[in-house]
Amino acid sequence: MTGTLMGAHQLRVIGITNQKGGVGKTTTAINLGTALAAIGERVLVIDLDPQGNASTGLGVEADARKFTSCSVLAGEADIRTASVQTAVPGLSVVPANSDLVGLEAELMGDSNRPYKLRDALAKVAGEAAAGQSSYDYVLIDCPPSLNLLTVNALVAANAVLVPVQCEFFALEGISQLKDSIDQIRSTLNPNLEIQGVVLTMHDARTTLSREVADNVRSFFGPKVYESVIPRNTRVAEAPSHGKPILLYDYDCPGAQAYIRLATEIIEREKQNKAA
Ligand SMILES: Nc1ncnc2c1ncn2[C@@H]1O[C@H](COP(=O)(O)OP(=O)(O)OP(=O)(O)O)[C@@H](O)[C@H]1O
Ligand SMILES: [Mg+2]
Repeated sequence: MTGTLMGAHQLRVIGITNQKGGVGKTTTAINLGTALAAIGERVLVIDLDPQGNASTGLGVEADARKFTSCSVLAGEADIRTASVQTAVPGLSVVPANSDLVGLEAELMGDSNRPYKLRDALAKVAGEAAAGQSSYDYVLIDCPPSLNLLTVNALVAANAVLVPVQCEFFALEGISQLKDSIDQIRSTLNPNLEIQGVVLTMHDARTTLSREVADNVRSFFGPKVYESVIPRNTRVAEAPSHGKPILLYDYDCPGAQAYIRLATEIIEREKQNKAA
């Protein structure tokens, strides 16, 4: 940071990804985003899934999605225009809807297609470096697939965060995901790193959850966060009220776990910067 650019900082872009469905990507995007904002970071969630669940869970109704991540990737709107302020101070979202389904076909033949999100975010990153940005963290909620949308996220990101559900077959597909990350690193985005792996829907009462957690820790080593997200029905209920868990039930174990995770991620970012 230079003395003349007060408030200049590096924007951190984190892709939340796992091509396995239903592992807690969207729940993590919503609640980690909220927890980071509660700690004082300025956060943008980019919903990159045609299901639009992150948008719904953050309270953006379908008819309020005037511009979406599809508009951004298609070059019809910039990030600032497409972002919507949520009920959480310091947390905005670029919403998504099913328009994203047709995007791959629309971009066919455009040689720049893996770079659409990175280019859209370049302006925001430039503003951060100049001390004018409204964001510290961008979290990208990826679809359960390794398609063009996920490639755009991995090309735009500095790092990925991989949620792994504590259930049988948890590690299924993980080597494929690691290969994809390696491939993007060696071609389109040399700086891409794994920020960390978060264990989700952990049930401390079951042997299976404990065994899976042990397996994931021996596979990924210190990349696995200490903070584990417990299985908690309040977390599953919150999106139907259009609220992150921290607004729905601040004291429940799921909300507290996401605050611990946010703290751990900020700490890891500090250590990475110092290294
Ligand atoms: N900690 C938790 N406790 C209880 N239920 C949870 C928890 N985390 C997620 N869920 C529930 O599990 C389901 C899958 O979660 P989520 O939608 O976040 O996964 P996903 O990886 O984004 O799914 P997809 O691959 O379809 O995008 C949802 O119904 C969600 O409410
Ligand atoms: Mg999802």
